[in-house]
Amino acid sequence: MKIGIDKIGFYSPHVYVDMEKLAEARGVEPAKFTIGIGQSQMAIAPITQDSVTLAANAALQIIDEEDREKIDFVIFCSESGIDHSKSGGVYVHQLLGLNPHARAVELKQACYAATAGIQMAKGHIALNPESKVLVLGTDIARYGLNTPGESTQGAGAVAMIISANPHVMELEQHNVYLTNDIMDFWRPIYSDKAFVDGKFSNEQYILFFNKVWEVYKEKSGLELKDMEAICYHLPYTKMGLKALRTVLDEASEEVQERLLKNYQTSTIYNRNVGNIYTGSLYLSLLSLLENADLEDGSRIGMFSYGSGAVGEFFTGVLQLNYRDYLIKESHQQLFNKREEVTVEKYEEIFEDVLPADGSDIELDISKDPATICLSGVVDNKRQYVNKN
Ligand code: HMG
Repeated sequence: MKIGIDKIGFYSPHVYVDMEKLAEARGVEPAKFTIGIGQSQMAIAPITQDSVTLAANAALQIIDEEDREKIDFVIFCSESGIDHSKSGGVYVHQLLGLNPHARAVELKQACYAATAGIQMAKGHIALNPESKVLVLGTDIARYGLNTPGESTQGAGAVAMIISANPHVMELEQHNVYLTNDIMDFWRPIYSDKAFVDGKFSNEQYILFFNKVWEVYKEKSGLELKDMEAICYHLPYTKMGLKALRTVLDEASEEVQERLLKNYQTSTIYNRNVGNIYTGSLYLSLLSLLENADLEDGSRIGMFSYGSGAVGEFFTGVLQLNYRDYLIKESHQQLFNKREEVTVEKYEEIFEDVLPADGSDIELDISKDPATICLSGVVDNKRQYVNKN
């Protein structure tokens, strides 16, 4: 039985800052951000969006009535969750009006969690072929104003329905994963911003890629020439390229060109959104599928990395007429409708956070065009509104 991604949708907040203008404000050459880091725009989450609303808004793009009935497992994957106890999946389950006889949980391992989520979903479908699983990769990346990590922030979510006989991509066997306890990036429970050893994190990302790729080749018997493209977790778009370049000489010139060309296409959306942690690899997949013209049956390599660290390499095969099941137009509209804000406004939005002591607050949701918004906090309970 084939199991894989049946539908895939994306959501990012309606405001962004231009990276050249951010570079100027920080006294940095704009080319450092646009070429050295490889980012053009950075999505910013207003106070009315959190990891729950981003995930719910992403899922709204793809679910229909049949999905609402058949989804019996919601896997909310995030490292910017809103509660130490209750899963973000429970909120999303309610906001989407899903079948009550469903499980809802939250998974965490930095940016890697959504990969664990889809592999867990695959196991669930193998045992329950009639059901569907909603996997959500949702995050707001925050390093702080004027920090080296600032240019690699972002906000957004990817929602995927995993099912039997998927319409978009079948998940293949031979996954190779790796765990090693390192401190390259982490966010202690008391901090709303990440701590990072930037250079070390870059080195570890590449090391993990090299290690899983070597074992993957042995296990699967596949090589670079067997991949039409490789998608990477993209904390910033230059990162995956650095990893890809370390293995390119294993392939002919023709294959190298193909992989490099498809790599660029796989970064279009990420370049204009920034790091969305758990969703980044899947945003890159979406960018590739919606902007390249890959043939049905193409095999895509996928490298997932979550600091701390866990890495995984796996592959998927595009299904017959997969393009008919993508929602490129609605993603284009989302990008077209976004509003650029000045660096000053971005800083204001960045500092505008919920009261740390949990006191009540009512938020103005009239300026946020998202269907699902956070409207306030009452008695330490977040209040969500579905405008439909
Ligand atoms: P930095 O020190 O500001 O930048 O930190 P840099 O000095 O290393 O420069 C960056 C690049 O710009 C370099 O290119 C420069 O040469 C180039 P490279 O040599 O690396 O190819 N550059 C220029 N290029 C063109 N014109 C110019 C120019 N000037 C310089 N004028 C860093 C950069 C990424 C380290 C920082 O932003 C950071 O710490 N970011 C956060 C950590 C991160 O993203 N790590 C990535 C791997 S870990 C990961 O992916 C996991 C993560 O997503 C978290 C999770 O799992 O949850 C982060």
